[in-house]
Amino acid sequence: MESAVELAAPGRKVTTLSMLTPSQQAAIRKIPAEAEAVVVPIEASRPSTIFTGQERFDVEQARIFRHYPVPVTLSALLPEPGMVVAHEGYGVPLLISRTRDGEIKAFINACQHKGAKLLEDCEVRRQGRLSCPYHAWTYGIDGSLVGVARSEAFLNLDKEERRLAELEARQWGGVVYVKLDRDGPADWSQLSEDVRDDFLALGIPDSHVYGRKTFDLKANWKLVLEPFLEGYHVQRLHAASIGKLFQDAPTCVDRFGCNIRQVSGRIGYEPSMLDADPDENVHKLVTHAYTAFPNCVVVTSQYYTSVMILMPREVGRTVVEYFMITPEAATTPKAEEVFERSYRLILDVFGNEDFRAAEISQSGLSAGVPATTVYCGLEANIVHYYEALERLL
Ligand code: FES
Ligand SMILES: [Fe+2]
Repeated sequence: MESAVELAAPGRKVTTLSMLTPSQQAAIRKIPAEAEAVVVPIEASRPSTIFTGQERFDVEQARIFRHYPVPVTLSALLPEPGMVVAHEGYGVPLLISRTRDGEIKAFINACQHKGAKLLEDCEVRRQGRLSCPYHAWTYGIDGSLVGVARSEAFLNLDKEERRLAELEARQWGGVVYVKLDRDGPADWSQLSEDVRDDFLALGIPDSHVYGRKTFDLKANWKLVLEPFLEGYHVQRLHAASIGKLFQDAPTCVDRFGCNIRQVSGRIGYEPSMLDADPDENVHKLVTHAYTAFPNCVVVTSQYYTSVMILMPREVGRTVVEYFMITPEAATTPKAEEVFERSYRLILDVFGNEDFRAAEISQSGLSAGVPATTVYCGLEANIVHYYEALERLL
């Protein structure tokens, strides 16, 4: 799925081992050689109702997705001041903007006159002002109400009170987190500083968003997440695509609550390969896969990184926003060709393999079979993730 050509481009071309954090480097050095990998068997299961029950879904919504800030997009999508995008993935109409001083802000996408959406699609725009389609009230992208048509016709209209409704937002290693519920201050305690530092070392905030695509899946969000937490399916579900690039076992895992970092050697990996060439692209040797609290997946590939936000909408429905990011925009036709081919292939692998697996599992579980899902030692991360999640529920 990836070409062996080096991309001739200035700036950060590749990530080398020495560009990673000490913690990432230590994790990579713990990956055993393919021949020495051991899998520890486990006994674990979960009731199917965690994927099919309305009550469980409602508790997750209240205690996780509305209680804590959640990932909504990438700061790389808005690289310059004056950029703004609407976002609907969680079912809450949002506007995310980068103000003149470079700050990322989040608002409810609703005019303070009568609630009309200011932006009706989710295209990225570069505009200093937002004008309501209904009666043309105008807002700055910092949320201030700057213009009211026929303002003399309003008695005692306080423009300060009619600013856009702002939500607490933060950039976390290039991922924009927003607290969707406006009651009470945000609790940032579940986000991992280790993961943030890793994402900075991977260059996520300064990346170029090559492509993004939204999927609307008939599956519970945890079924969509599961394949990104286990290596068991890779050689099987992906037998015809990327399966041959990965081994079953040699993985090093670090856990920070609901945040999980997995690093695995690609096929034929030997620890001695790490020090053979200090300028080598580390993504050629190992793959990083992260779950960032609670529903953001990051997977590295040789020339690009995939970021996915898995947004629960109903018990059996999840909206996924997929981003393919690259160190920079393609500067040569060769690079463009590699990116273009990678984008098509990765959408095919995730869309037609991993996401399809989630949908066909939902189908059986919704029919009550099996009554409990069962996990093996190659799926232990799923169980650890669920244990961390259950502590918050
Ligand atoms: S609803 Fe926006 S100006 Fe009237
Ligand atoms: Fe997969």
